[in-house]
Amino acid sequence: MGKVYYVSKNVGLGLLVLAATALATIIALSIAYDKERAKNRDKPEDGTSDSTGMPTPPTTPFIPKEPWDHYRLPESLVPVSYNVTLWPRLEPNADGLYIFTGHSAVVFRCVKETDLIIIHSNKLNLTTFNGHHAKLSGLGGAAVPTIQKSFLIVKTEYLVLQLRSRLAVGTSYVLHTEFLGELADDLEGFYRSEYTDDGMKRVVATSQMQATYARKAFPCFDEPAMKAVFNITIIHNSATVALSNGRDIDSVIDGVPVRVTTFEPTERMSTYLLAFIVTDFVNIQSTQNSNLLVRIWARRKAINDRQGDYALNVTGPILQFYERYYNASYPLSKSDQIALPDFNAGAMENWGLVTYRETALLYDPIMSSTGNKERVTTVISHELAHMWFGNLVTLQWWNDLWLNEGFASYVEYLGADYAEPTWKIKDQILLYDVHKVFAVDALASSHPLSRREDEVNDPAQISEMFNTISYSKILMLFITGFSSQSYLNTFAFSNTVYTDLWDHLQQAVENTPGMHLPDTVHNIMNHWTLQMGFPVVTIDTRTGSITQKHFLLDPESVVDRPSQFNYTWFVPVKWMKTGVEQQQYWLLQKTDVHSLMRVSGEDWVLANINVSGYFRVNYDLDNWDRLLSLLNTDHQVIINRAQIIDDTFNLARAKIIHTTLALRTTKYLSNEREYIPWESALRNLDYYILMFDRTEVYGALQAYLKKQIQPLFEYFKIITADWTRVPTGHTDQYNQINAVGMACSMGVEGCRELIQGWYRQWMKNPHPSPSYASIHPNLKSTVYCAAIAFGGVEEWDFAWRMFKNATLASEASRLRSAMACTKVPWLLNRYLDYTLDPTKIRKQDATSTIQYIARNVVGMPLAWNFVRAKWSYIFQYGKASFSFSNLIHAITRRFSSEFELQELKKFKEDNLHVGFGSATLALEQAIEKTTANIKWVTENKAQVLKWFTEEST
Ligand SMILES: *[C@@H]1O[C@H](CO)[C@@H](O)[C@H](O)[C@H]1NC(C)=O
Ligand SMILES: *[C@@H]1O[C@H](CO)[C@@H](O)[C@H](O)[C@H]1NC(C)=O
Ligand SMILES: *[C@@H]1O[C@H](CO)[C@@H](O)[C@H](O)[C@H]1NC(C)=O
Ligand SMILES: *[C@@H]1O[C@H](CO)[C@@H](O)[C@H](O)[C@H]1NC(C)=O
Ligand SMILES: *[C@@H]1O[C@H](CO)[C@@H](O)[C@H](O)[C@H]1NC(C)=O
Ligand SMILES: [Zn+2]
Repeated sequence: MGKVYYVSKNVGLGLLVLAATALATIIALSIAYDKERAKNRDKPEDGTSDSTGMPTPPTTPFIPKEPWDHYRLPESLVPVSYNVTLWPRLEPNADGLYIFTGHSAVVFRCVKETDLIIIHSNKLNLTTFNGHHAKLSGLGGAAVPTIQKSFLIVKTEYLVLQLRSRLAVGTSYVLHTEFLGELADDLEGFYRSEYTDDGMKRVVATSQMQATYARKAFPCFDEPAMKAVFNITIIHNSATVALSNGRDIDSVIDGVPVRVTTFEPTERMSTYLLAFIVTDFVNIQSTQNSNLLVRIWARRKAINDRQGDYALNVTGPILQFYERYYNASYPLSKSDQIALPDFNAGAMENWGLVTYRETALLYDPIMSSTGNKERVTTVISHELAHMWFGNLVTLQWWNDLWLNEGFASYVEYLGADYAEPTWKIKDQILLYDVHKVFAVDALASSHPLSRREDEVNDPAQISEMFNTISYSKILMLFITGFSSQSYLNTFAFSNTVYTDLWDHLQQAVENTPGMHLPDTVHNIMNHWTLQMGFPVVTIDTRTGSITQKHFLLDPESVVDRPSQFNYTWFVPVKWMKTGVEQQQYWLLQKTDVHSLMRVSGEDWVLANINVSGYFRVNYDLDNWDRLLSLLNTDHQVIINRAQIIDDTFNLARAKIIHTTLALRTTKYLSNEREYIPWESALRNLDYYILMFDRTEVYGALQAYLKKQIQPLFEYFKIITADWTRVPTGHTDQYNQINAVGMACSMGVEGCRELIQGWYRQWMKNPHPSPSYASIHPNLKSTVYCAAIAFGGVEEWDFAWRMFKNATLASEASRLRSAMACTKVPWLLNRYLDYTLDPTKIRKQDATSTIQYIARNVVGMPLAWNFVRAKWSYIFQYGKASFSFSNLIHAITRRFSSEFELQELKKFKEDNLHVGFGSATLALEQAIEKTTANIKWVTENKAQVLKWFTEEST
């Protein structure tokens, strides 16, 4: 952000000495919302818990009696290595079923005497040997107990063998299985993905193992700490290629037309990171990183259109960056990344074979926008960060998932910044992550990051970790090359719990001269990970008092979750006084006095200046007035403008300050040209738009925003030479999109004509997509949406045709979103029907399409009716692939009346028997939010109307 007045970084020495020690120190409360939600990162976007089809039953708790009733494996056996052979059939069998067959041998060691073998196996038809589901043999001539009984437990997904005698401690055995499974299109385990190429249907066998689906591909000890070596063999048609985590070492034609591809043994790794793919895809490759084989795989057409080039270009530098950052070389012999047409998560960090949605890996130099490019860079950077943190060193159990994701979500910015230094992408952490985390974590229904291992057991609870840990705060991490190196070296190929990282950070702190913390890393971090939420820090510049309080968006909500720290935190406050940065101050109690913060006259105090602190800031009214008047006269002096805007809007929501004080922070926007403050303001005003776009307030609001956005629109018109050039700055390109989009929806003169002109030109000349000259890729989303909103069936049907013909996933996705912008009810209803027809809208895209429709003020009630009427069908239809929680969030965002609240409660009651799967929590949150919205609208409507009316004239 801003550049002015950023005086002397080394002012107070103290912690900043580090800058000079060449250690990359991040003393930040950096927060990383899991992209999984926001940007569809690597996770089976909820939905996975829905696959049980059951809400966690509130009554009749399940009391485990037998060892196989427990969801966690007993500790008696540990796997050493596996031989796994898989043969997927890409043609349906006589019954019209796609299947795979395979066999596996797992060598395991007995570490505790037992007469039971319990191993995961789910939905596999196991061949029997002498009436048993497996064969057991000894390793090195060991005596082998005979099998007494074997059976499958569906609930806990186990294959159980009861032996006639006990296995001997210290001895290794081999368990052989042969199996047949369905290669279903359920996006879980080893599954089938289809796409069309030149009108021909093609089938790809691919996999998604995280979190608990490896057991659906072959019987295995399917827990992250059960690391082993995997010797993988894939049998496939010789017209296809087989990929897995390692390099292929042997490929033999074994009687035409079958090819047998063997892979080098993997490193010791977790089952959830395995990947198997059989496909006719092609690749581009490079060996720029000291002979490391780097390949990008995709559909032939995509590769021919050079859509993989950009990913290949950035992968090398990003890997180099991490090798230096972690001070550890890339752990494997190759790096494959593949774009799948049918993939549920945004991406998945399988070790050595990362899978992506096409939009997260493919970039078309002509058709894609800057935003598409940024997404590719950040997702690749995120996934590659996991190759070390997560894959080489893996958390012991899913309760610590937040650290794995939080860490990757933070360092992805560093990797992306290295690959694209001119983008200044680190500035966007605030927008992408911090503000989003704040939104969830300010609710009384939030929860601490850290959960006990025994609170997370069954697959539904595991998958909930991906949903409800919808945020992670990497707090005040002292990440030094040194500490991550020692951490990675100590735990390479094994597992850790999160406190192991704190230990290493503590060592790093102690080994860094001049570095002082007010307490140990453990104690500081515990305040942030063991209690939910975050504080609002209030500075009273009249007295110099500084206090903290748990920030709750709804001041009347009741926090019934106790906290051992009484909701106080150790807060590092970076601040400046009248433009001069001061020494960082640690707030360690509820209240304190810091005499330097007492100011008078023209002086002012501004805290959390680098926006790295995970807290909000409030001041006494006098200081606020001084800050606001600076904003209006010399706004660049305030370097954290985006934060000020976001803080005031949220403080107002929480009734800590007046709503009008928040609105006053937007008055200077007519002079603002930077993207980040604008974006922050628009996101906050979005709430006003949502609450009021069905009321009389909207007219005045529109008039005010029209006035504010007009200068920005004119500014871009000038710097782009009447919309013929692309702004040079990365974020300026984003800001131009905002300017045009807002100008059109607020009715700025000239906007509508501009958009319609572009779109009509494209309709006249439709192939294959608007030419570069008529609609720049950056503006396509905005232009399509506005043109469809201004237009009727003709514009819509044209977009539908273009959508069906789109060969670039991001172009298809833009059109899919834009078609939800129409204001014509029957078009919206028809579109809703399309979402449940997989020949029209892919299953993986159904929920997001309904969300887009709900975003539209006309579409919202239609989408709500649709979802209510068809919930049980939608729930079945989307089990494996739908993000139900996102769906509920999207539909209920505008809810702000008593009537809507009752409807929501009724929906919950009526469908208890069906269940809500991953949306269970979202539904609770929606009820809480609607209640808060009702209150807010009642209390604020009159003054907001008055303010907008006065300010718009
Ligand atoms: C897998 O390969 C490794 C290396 O060749 C070997 O040591 C191991 O025994 C093999 N695993 C099995 C189950 O045979
Ligand atoms: C694993 O496969 C290798 C190569 O085919 C073979 O030599 C070895 O005996 C197999 N291991 C087991 C335990 O079956
Ligand atoms: C597995 O076995 C069951 C029961 O015999 C059968 O109904 C099912 O179709 C089989 N699955 C596959 C994929 O063949
Ligand atoms: C990839 O890098 C090459 C060589 O620097 C460059 O010519 C090409 O434009 C880049 N491709 C993309 C899509 O950025
Ligand atoms: C937390 O607050 C309770 C009640 O106000 C008090 O009894 C307790 O001592 C406090 N604990 C800490 C650690 O401050
Ligand atoms: Zn991740």
